[in-house]
Amino acid sequence: MATNVDAAALDETPISESVHKPSKQTVDPYNVSGEVGEDGVVKAIDYNKLIDEFGTKKIDDELLARFERVTGKRPHHFLRRGIVFSHRDFELILDRYERGEPFFLYTGRGPSSDSVHVGHTIPFEFTKWLQDTFDVPLIIMMTDDEKYLFSEKKTIEEVQGYCTNNAKDIIAIGFDPAKTFIFSDFDYVGGAFYRNIVRLSKHITLNQARAIFGFNDSTNIGRIHFGSIQGATSWASSFPHIFGDDESKTVGIPALIPCAIDQDPDFRMTRDVSARLKYQGKPYAKPSLIHALFLPALQGPGTKMSASIDESAIFLKDTPNQIKNKINKYAFSGGKVSQEEHRQYGGDTSVDVAYQYLRFFLEDDEELERIKVEYESGRMLTGELKAICIRELQKYVAAFQERRAKVDDETVKLFMERRPLQWRGNPRAPLV
Ligand code: TYM
Ligand code: TRP
Repeated sequence: MATNVDAAALDETPISESVHKPSKQTVDPYNVSGEVGEDGVVKAIDYNKLIDEFGTKKIDDELLARFERVTGKRPHHFLRRGIVFSHRDFELILDRYERGEPFFLYTGRGPSSDSVHVGHTIPFEFTKWLQDTFDVPLIIMMTDDEKYLFSEKKTIEEVQGYCTNNAKDIIAIGFDPAKTFIFSDFDYVGGAFYRNIVRLSKHITLNQARAIFGFNDSTNIGRIHFGSIQGATSWASSFPHIFGDDESKTVGIPALIPCAIDQDPDFRMTRDVSARLKYQGKPYAKPSLIHALFLPALQGPGTKMSASIDESAIFLKDTPNQIKNKINKYAFSGGKVSQEEHRQYGGDTSVDVAYQYLRFFLEDDEELERIKVEYESGRMLTGELKAICIRELQKYVAAFQERRAKVDDETVKLFMERRPLQWRGNPRAPLV
């Protein structure tokens, strides 16, 4: 069954098979799948259920109104459309922003191959927008160690190569080098960061790691430990070259972590540990989170676009023709079986992949609404809807490729160098 697996599980080893029942909806960093019905068909991922199970909060109109009041900026279309749909303590970050108190942004990428797809760019596009909005430091973690540990065949040298190329893709999203630090785990672990990794790992038992990630007795111990590395990046004191080395000050500076909801388990764990730690009597700041939905696979809303399944994804390297062919051939349609029936009853936009992609990639609200009305009424046919989706994705990927062509090794070095960053309200004197 082509479900219940993702990048890690398919070309790598399924790590949680003995724990997760394949029929249940599963969402963790290593498995993403909707529930499998009695008919064997995978259902769409139920995001409201995830909010309940994970204990996060839905982003509601009230929070968005407050965001707009505090920042003076209209919420991004991901927020307006419920694509960035859930959070943990985002209101505390707005409180801090209002009071001019420091916080930072943190997100990351696991460089598992050179094939970055348009789903991966969702949290990064959103992060860039948050960076422009809040004017705070941004830390981007490249988990090359994770991708080595969670793969059977890849060598360290291979993942390090992917790391550099993926960093170029990320830089091409448009981050500001004065405010952004990108690091690779293999290069950066040590010093203050390593002290935090060990602090975190000391407070996680094997039982907890097993319950959170579904590990079993045959899981290699590197995988079991990895969450403390991803977690320790949430603490400002891991970055003395940015926040200074006085831990009594940095301990209170929280991260805001934009990511898709599959990454939540690592940070749930980190938040639990933060709540139990103190530095010289001062409590550790818990990271806040803001979660995105998955961009669905071309095959439908039951699973996410995955880099290891070529026909599930539109890659940032795809040519206009490849984009066209993939969408025409694979994009799951919410249209009716015959044209007559479609004209009579209309299409179902809630499962139609071409329509769902437009919710992510078409910024014009009125145009999107027009397409919805036309398709649901049956006046617009699947072929026409797909043509619009193809056009928008071709535009998005072409603009990306143009920016990507300008990113060279020197630029990567600049972003990855340990250096102070500059931002508004920087408590340390910024470099000129
Ligand atoms: P990785 O490389 O699997 O994914 C990178 C980011 O992309 C999100 N993502 C998606 N978003 C929308 N639609 C999709 N189809 C889709 N597939 C993946 C992921 O949620 C993630 O935000 N261990 C992490 C790297 C990491 C990280 C972090 C991510 C380290 N620290 C902090 C987020 C926040 C990883 O392998 O991500
Ligand atoms: N709004 C993005 C920006 O200003 C650009 C963009 C266009 C985009 N279409 C998108 C981002 C789709 C994410 C998804 O940078």
